[in-house]
Amino acid sequence: MNCLHHWLCHSARWRKTIQQRVPWVVSSADLGQTVLELGPGPGLTTDVLRRMAEHLTAIEVDPKLATSLGARLRGSNVQVIAGDATAMPFADSQFSAVVSFTMLHHVPSPELQDRLFRQVWRVLEPGGVFVGSDSLQSWLMKINHIRDTLVPVDPDTVGTRFEAAGFEVLEVERNSNAFRFYARRPA
Ligand SMILES: C[S@@+](CC[C@H](N)C(=O)[O-])C[C@H]1O[C@@H](n2cnc3c(N)ncnc32)[C@H](O)[C@@H]1O
Repeated sequence: MNCLHHWLCHSARWRKTIQQRVPWVVSSADLGQTVLELGPGPGLTTDVLRRMAEHLTAIEVDPKLATSLGARLRGSNVQVIAGDATAMPFADSQFSAVVSFTMLHHVPSPELQDRLFRQVWRVLEPGGVFVGSDSLQSWLMKINHIRDTLVPVDPDTVGTRFEAAGFEVLEVERNSNAFRFYARRPA
């Protein structure tokens, strides 16, 4: 992430957004007890999610962010792994739910995003759910991502891409600046 983006992801304003966005995304899904978060960054989403599951694993590709979040949450119900969500070091069918907040557009190509979707399907138990959200394309997004990765995911086509990875798509919904999705690995 660039400096502006890094600052935004730590900000009080983003924390407020997260307090509304996490419930919007997870409200229709039963996450179960073994939840995996993709791309926690500094962990504002993790702080909300960890109250919703018995055990939360978070995988973060930036080693510095992974180390500082792991240190901050040591002794809690969260385990932070430094790693890439497009090539996850987890066993098949290990999680009851996978969640992702505002991270898919950081995965640098549609091919890698599709690989990530297949990895999520692999690590979910049958019947497990994949829920998340991402920002819609806008001029503000472009400014926030100067010299940073920005490969927006189109909510109009994401359902077809999930189906190609093996998911059943239950919901894709958008508001003025973001979309949420709810997909399931068939039981
Ligand atoms: C914009 S931040 C969002 C952080 C947090 N989810 C939130 O909503 O506040 C995106 C995060 O995803 C991480 N990320 C990007 N690609 C990743 C990948 N392939 N695997 C794991 N994490 C990734 C980035 O390093 C960054 O910390």
